[in-house]
Amino acid sequence: MIIAQLKNISKEYKQANENHPVLQEINVAINEGEFVAICGPSGHGKSTLLSILALLEPATSGEYLLAGTPVASLHRDQLAVLRGRHVGIVFQSFNLIGDMTVQENVQLPLKFASHIKSEEHEALVRHAINSVGLAGKENFYPDMLSGGQQQRVAIARAIVHKPDILFADEPTGNLDSTTGEDVMKLLEALHKQGMTLCLVTHDETIAEKAQRRLLIHDGHLKEI
Ligand SMILES: Nc1ncnc2c1ncn2[C@@H]1O[C@H](COP(=O)(O)OP(=O)(O)O)[C@@H](O)[C@H]1O
Ligand SMILES: [Mg+2]
Repeated sequence: MIIAQLKNISKEYKQANENHPVLQEINVAINEGEFVAICGPSGHGKSTLLSILALLEPATSGEYLLAGTPVASLHRDQLAVLRGRHVGIVFQSFNLIGDMTVQENVQLPLKFASHIKSEEHEALVRHAINSVGLAGKENFYPDMLSGGQQQRVAIARAIVHKPDILFADEPTGNLDSTTGEDVMKLLEALHKQGMTLCLVTHDETIAEKAQRRLLIHDGHLKEI
């Protein structure tokens, strides 16, 4: 089954009344269970593509179907529902809420996952925290944790609502190499358990871990 399908997707930014094309006529489908890496040099449009895929920003033209739903004409709240149901996302800089505990951070997406009953929340949070190896740290605040542990919390938060696809934008970019390898092992383990994974990286050694690699160069995408 196809989870995410881009058809002729283009994106441009307007600056000083000039249009700057960032993504040009991108066609790609991500299938259930795949581990896809989107790689390419800095500034070539990887994060922009991931933002479109994760419904964080709209494309300028083209059609995007997420879990079969065309997203172009959806309103903000409809997009939030779709995102809450299907999408998990992890960023380079963790983006945890500093005055919330691990448990509270991980719980957050459940507020936007109206399809999940509140009776299930506690078990889902516990399961997500366990699956990233942070059992026992539920009441810690982010600044009491190492960078690698913070990224694990961010991953738990991204999977707590059992999304169909997990997006990760340079998830090891802020970590030293050993910790980065541990985080990659965790993502690979989640993939082996059935999670569809789409990871953005400029790092070849990380991209090599994926089953399928897509290269973005100057806004054009090609399969390698
Ligand atoms: N919000 C924005 N407004 C204007 N230009 C942007 C914006 N976001 C990204 N860009 C530009 O789009 C290009 C691609 O950026 P990005 O997708 O972040 O690349 P990458 O993730 O591959 O490093 C860059 O030239 C960047 O300056
Ligand atoms: Mg980027």
